[in-house]
Amino acid sequence: MSLLLQGKSAIVTGGGSGIGRATAIALAREGARVLVQDRAENGAQETVGLVNAAGGQAISIGGDVTVEADVQAMVDLAVTTFGRLDVAFNNAGISPAAAGPTMQRTHELSLASWSKVIDVNLTGVFLCMKYQIPHMLAGGGGAIVNTASVAGLVGLPTASAYVGSKHGVIGITKTAAMEYAQEGIRVNAVCPGYVLTPMTENGVARRGEELLNKVPMHRLGRPEEIAEAVVWLSSDRASFVTGSFYTVDGGYYAA
Ligand SMILES: NC(=O)c1ccc[n+]([C@@H]2O[C@H](COP(=O)([O-])OP(=O)(O)OC[C@H]3O[C@@H](n4cnc5c(N)ncnc54)[C@H](O)[C@@H]3O)[C@@H](O)[C@H]2O)c1
Repeated sequence: MSLLLQGKSAIVTGGGSGIGRATAIALAREGARVLVQDRAENGAQETVGLVNAAGGQAISIGGDVTVEADVQAMVDLAVTTFGRLDVAFNNAGISPAAAGPTMQRTHELSLASWSKVIDVNLTGVFLCMKYQIPHMLAGGGGAIVNTASVAGLVGLPTASAYVGSKHGVIGITKTAAMEYAQEGIRVNAVCPGYVLTPMTENGVARRGEELLNKVPMHRLGRPEEIAEAVVWLSSDRASFVTGSFYTVDGGYYAA
C-alpha cells in the first residue's frame, strides 16, 4: 500500500504540542520527512522523538514565528536538510489567555493583548508563507495548510483578537490560493472546533459542559482528528482543493 506523502518534505509550526504534534506524527506516518518547529524547543524535540520511535524521519528547530529571521532559518533548515519543501502546516498559535486577561469585550481589550494575538496567529502565518512559497515555486508546487479555527468563521464574544486573527488567516489563505493556483501551490485552511490540547485544558476544566452544549456531537475533538484533515489536504488526493477552509468540529459550525 503506498503512503500518501511518500518522499515529501514538510514543516509543522507549533509542532511541540497538541494539534501540531499529532499532525507531525501523522504526516511522518504517511512518509513525509518533517521539520518540527516550536517556540518551546523541548516540545519540538519530544515530537521528533515520537516520530522517530514510530519509524518516521523528523528533525526539530526552535524559534518564534513572529520573528522574521527565525522563520527564514526554519525554512532554510528544511530545504538544506531535505532538499526541497513540499508541505507546510502553519499552525503555531496562542489563545487569548496567553496574551493577557480573558473575558474582555472589545472596548476592554488592551492594544498589547490585541497585538500579541494578531502577531502570532496572523502575522506568523503570513511570515511562514512568505518564506515557504519561493521554495515551493522553485520546486514546481506544494501544499500549504494554515490553522484557522471555527473562530475564523463566526464571532465569539470576548475573543475579538483571536476571532480577528483567525478570520484573517482564512482571508490570506484564500488570497494566496488565488495567487499561486496556476503554479502548483495549493493553500487551504483547517478550522478546528473545540479540541482538547494544552491550549484549551483550563477553559475546558472551567466551562466543560457549556462548551459541549455548543457541539452537536457533544464531545471535544482529539488532535489526531484534525491531523487527518491536514494529511488529506497536504496530499495529492486533494489535488483540486485550494482556497478552502475545512471545519473539523463535531458539527459546531453547522449548528
Ligand atoms: N485546541 C483547540 O480547541 C483549537 C481550536 C481551534 C484552533 N486551534 C488552533 O490550533 C493551533 C494549535 O493549537 P493547540 O490547541 O494544538 O495548542 P497548543 O498550545 O497545544 O500548541 C500550540 C503550540 O504553538 C507553539 N507556539 C505558540 N506561539 C508560538 C510562536 N510565536 N512561535 C512558535 N511556536 C509557537 C506553542 O509553544 C505550542 O507548542 C493554534 O493555531 C490554535 O489557535 C486550536
